[in-house]
Amino acid sequence: MRTLVLDNIGLLVTNDPDRGEGPLGIVRDAALVLGEHRVIAVEAAGAIADERLDAGGRCVIPGFVDSHTHLVFAGDRSEEFVARMAGAPYAAGGIRATVTSTRAASAEQLRELARARRREAVRAGITHQEIKSGYALDVTGEQRLCELASELTDDVTFLGAHVVPSEYTDRPDEYVDLVCGEMLAACAPHARWIDVFCEVGAFDADQSREILTAGRDAGLGLRVHGNQLGIGPGVQVAVDMGAASVDHCTYLSDLDVEALAASGTVATLLPATDFSTRQAYPDARRLLDAGATVALATNCNPGSSYTTSISFCIALAVREMHMSAAEALQAATLGGASALRRSDLGYLRPGARADVVILAAPTYAHLVYRPGVPLVAATIAAGRVEWVDPELLAQRSSRAVR
Ligand code: NIG
Repeated sequence: MRTLVLDNIGLLVTNDPDRGEGPLGIVRDAALVLGEHRVIAVEAAGAIADERLDAGGRCVIPGFVDSHTHLVFAGDRSEEFVARMAGAPYAAGGIRATVTSTRAASAEQLRELARARRREAVRAGITHQEIKSGYALDVTGEQRLCELASELTDDVTFLGAHVVPSEYTDRPDEYVDLVCGEMLAACAPHARWIDVFCEVGAFDADQSREILTAGRDAGLGLRVHGNQLGIGPGVQVAVDMGAASVDHCTYLSDLDVEALAASGTVATLLPATDFSTRQAYPDARRLLDAGATVALATNCNPGSSYTTSISFCIALAVREMHMSAAEALQAATLGGASALRRSDLGYLRPGARADVVILAAPTYAHLVYRPGVPLVAATIAAGRVEWVDPELLAQRSSRAVR
């Protein structure tokens, strides 16, 4: 097995408190030895391996785990965004516009579009993504989206219950039957998760429970979009049913916060959505202080959050939601891994997947301190260098010696 050492790391975030300082498990002047897929060792600077990449004293962090994306779609909704900035409210009905464009696109077009977004995400330091369907809303179309997503990730989510498509407007219960029946049967073989948008204008609590129960019976794990546009039943449904994550959580009652804190359901916050829809930001401080597990994700989609910049989400979480830079970094790495129930992601310690980001900065605080600046110098996924800044590439050599 060939090994790669990232040497001369000024500040290494392992996310393992048993391995270094504080909750981020920080190790200074470190070297990280990677195998073909996994982390082999955390050592002092100067370690030996087949290949060496000199981090030049930079900060190295676990790759970002983006646990909420809608990456496979066609069409553009920038006009809707412009109208919103001029005062129009966000209405999830815009989803149907993307459904029309996505249904009209070929599989090859959708594949190319999704791959381009994936390249953008890699450049932003994202080493693992969850990807949802939800922009076809018919049996063959949803199956096609799940299949395309499965080319890019093993965390595919079936989201036939995104909204009721126009052809079912007058018979939503028939659509729920379709989602729970034929559509689920077509999509489940390509998915790990099922999700439902539990919100006024989408699916109510009873419909959401029915859809999640059908998904669970088909062997899928549960996720919920909830409490995005107002106080509602999403969080309670997610917690009662043991969902891995409830996403958005922009509007929470005291009971919601208590329920999340007492549960194994992660609260996934999507602040780029609240930025792009001009809503209030979720109260991350209240959730963290109550003891809930918080994740941060991009929610990359054409309507409410068209970004792959998880650094932007981290900056918003610190500036607008009163998380510390350390909490926000952990929520975008280990938090995302928890939301996907992945114990192999989010850490840099022996046995973890070798998903690593070298920052063009001496500390992760620069993700907030230098907002909007591309600070990813290299992205390594499962031990493979997926992207590297040419300046850093010059520091790569074979046969590292002390
Ligand atoms: O997570 N809330 C539902 N789904 C997406 C929005 C999708 C869209 O507007 O196209 C979300 O924000």
